[in-house]
Amino acid sequence: MAPLANPDILLIGATGQVGHELRAPLAEIGDVTAPRRDGLDLTAPETIQSAVRAAAPDVIVNAAAYTAVDDAESEPDRAEAINAKAPAVLAETAAEVGAWLVHYSTDYVFDGTATAPYVERDATNPINVYGRTKRAGERAVQAAGGPHLILRTSWVYSARRSNFLLSMLGLADEHDTLTIVDDQTGTPTSAAWIAEATAAILGRLLDMDTPTEAGGLYHLAASGQTSWYGFARAIFAQFGRDDVTVKPIPTEEYPTPAARPAYTVLDSSEVRTTFDLDISTWSEQLDGLRARMRQA
Ligand SMILES: NC(=O)c1ccc[n+]([C@@H]2O[C@H](COP(=O)([O-])OP(=O)(O)OC[C@H]3O[C@@H](n4cnc5c(N)ncnc54)[C@H](OP(=O)(O)O)[C@@H]3O)[C@@H](O)[C@H]2O)c1
Repeated sequence: MAPLANPDILLIGATGQVGHELRAPLAEIGDVTAPRRDGLDLTAPETIQSAVRAAAPDVIVNAAAYTAVDDAESEPDRAEAINAKAPAVLAETAAEVGAWLVHYSTDYVFDGTATAPYVERDATNPINVYGRTKRAGERAVQAAGGPHLILRTSWVYSARRSNFLLSMLGLADEHDTLTIVDDQTGTPTSAAWIAEATAAILGRLLDMDTPTEAGGLYHLAASGQTSWYGFARAIFAQFGRDDVTVKPIPTEEYPTPAARPAYTVLDSSEVRTTFDLDISTWSEQLDGLRARMRQA
């Protein structure tokens, strides 16, 4: 297969954290079309098929998902439709039109009992509805048999929508002291970095003589690790909120509808070596977001 220059890219979920950040870097490697939700609704499979067939793209990037981890416990059918059934239809239709599919997944496919960073071949065992539906989505994309990349990432934040960083900044305006969970360990990863890395990976992939050999499932997260408590402290230091006192608590003192895995650090060595990618640390990515917010 010859290298593919200036591909037509269909971007799904362009209003999300990662999707929004994908627009600019993807536009540097191809022609991007981003359908609105009323043109492509993941809960309506026929709209997936018709939008993909009409666009006949070279690449589909699916940044859309049901990401409300706690709500998924009470809305399992909707989470399943968006995170598992829709990716199945998307992957089958992508294979039909010969398009690459880039799909995102999550560190929450793991049960969190590991003590060293998870690699791609480690066994999955999700402990909540969100994780189970995302794992089903991964499997559906793999089963469809078309060329694909599945990128598992973790603890995503940006300056938009809802995420831990924005929640902390909001809470800091209302409270002097916050108690934050300190016994869940993972890696905060900036949506902007995920988007830049995705475009870099895709650009290199499409430039390869045999890109399908480099396809498959990869971990794509910042390097390093921390707890939610550690992340909160870093956010307040970065945003000049030294007035807020942060106290560590165990998970049992902050019960949530969905169980959370205790340890979900992802080892991203495979994607780094395959695509010659720079993986920055989570604190460098937080610095980067703060710098961009200052400029905005
Ligand atoms: N957030 C995290 O901490 C995290 C962690 C690990 C992995 N991930 C994965 O990373 C990827 C990107 O996550 P994110 O945080 O950027 O997501 P997000 O900010 O929650 O955005 C989700 C996107 O999906 C779209 N969407 C939801 N339901 C839809 C439907 N029925 N039809 C069409 N579009 C629909 C949303 O559109 P509207 O704007 O119309 O709602 C939005 O564009 C996902 O695969 C997610 O599972 C996320």
